[in-house]
Amino acid sequence: MSRFAYVNGRFVRHGEAVVPIEDRGYQLADGVYEVWAVFDGKLADAEGHFARLWRSLDALRIAHPMSQASLTMVLREAVRRNKVKEGLCYLQITRGVAKRDHAFPNPAVPPAIVVTAKSLDRSAAEAKAAKGASVISVPENRWGRCDIKSIGLLPNVLAKQAARERGALEAWFVDDMGLVTEGASSNAWIIDAEGALRTRDTNANILRGVTRSTLLEVIRETGLPFSEKPFTIAEAQAAKEAFITGAGSLVTPITQIDGVKLGDGQPGPVAIGLRRSYMERARLKAV
Ligand code: PDD
Repeated sequence: MSRFAYVNGRFVRHGEAVVPIEDRGYQLADGVYEVWAVFDGKLADAEGHFARLWRSLDALRIAHPMSQASLTMVLREAVRRNKVKEGLCYLQITRGVAKRDHAFPNPAVPPAIVVTAKSLDRSAAEAKAAKGASVISVPENRWGRCDIKSIGLLPNVLAKQAARERGALEAWFVDDMGLVTEGASSNAWIIDAEGALRTRDTNANILRGVTRSTLLEVIRETGLPFSEKPFTIAEAQAAKEAFITGAGSLVTPITQIDGVKLGDGQPGPVAIGLRRSYMERARLKAV
């Protein structure tokens, strides 16, 4: 099936889509990105991802290339042209194309935009999630502004590769205090020995996950105990359950951490229930 990408103002065949070699994203990772889950051909958690996109751009002083309404049209068109019913939509905005220089181009150049969309086999993903997954821990070695959804992802890439090489799905970063910050491309959660849901607070150096926020709405409604008290790997290994959240993983149960099985090594009932509830809510609200 033909795929299409949106590149700086027009849709082109995916295989022919190119960006100039002096795009500052390519040379300097000077840009930001967002990933939307696509449910029934619609964008999940749309508002939350846009809010974070504008925050990330403002933090880096990159101009907004277009209004939210226009960008929504472009994203929807990418989803439509690629015939994506279940999948992901990716947006990247860089500071633009200019002769290489570390400082911002002066005068400023227009930001550069790329949008792609791809289908996922949702039933295969469900079957995988139902089995649970493993994580490994890695030292936190990222910059101090992980709240910005920057395309500078080298530490995340290396962490994820280390996970792959050890047969795990995800890597959890652990900071100098021995506390888990988040995953290479997801937020990290446990259900502790007392039954409280715990994930790192957003004042810490983590990405404020949109899936995390939507799941918090679900958790508040269910009345499950919740706290933003950070946790260590040892606490996570002794936890009743663990899971990760993100636009790609949605809510995925974790059954093993650094080779140690959690409980009986099966996905926990709360994580499984939260995956279902998250998807129901996100599907209903997708636009
Ligand atoms: N990653 N933390 C990190 C470091 C992430 O890269 C992501 C998402 C998350 C979860 O955020 P959200 O719930 O808003 O997707 C947390 C995307 C999916 C990616 O890089 O592909």
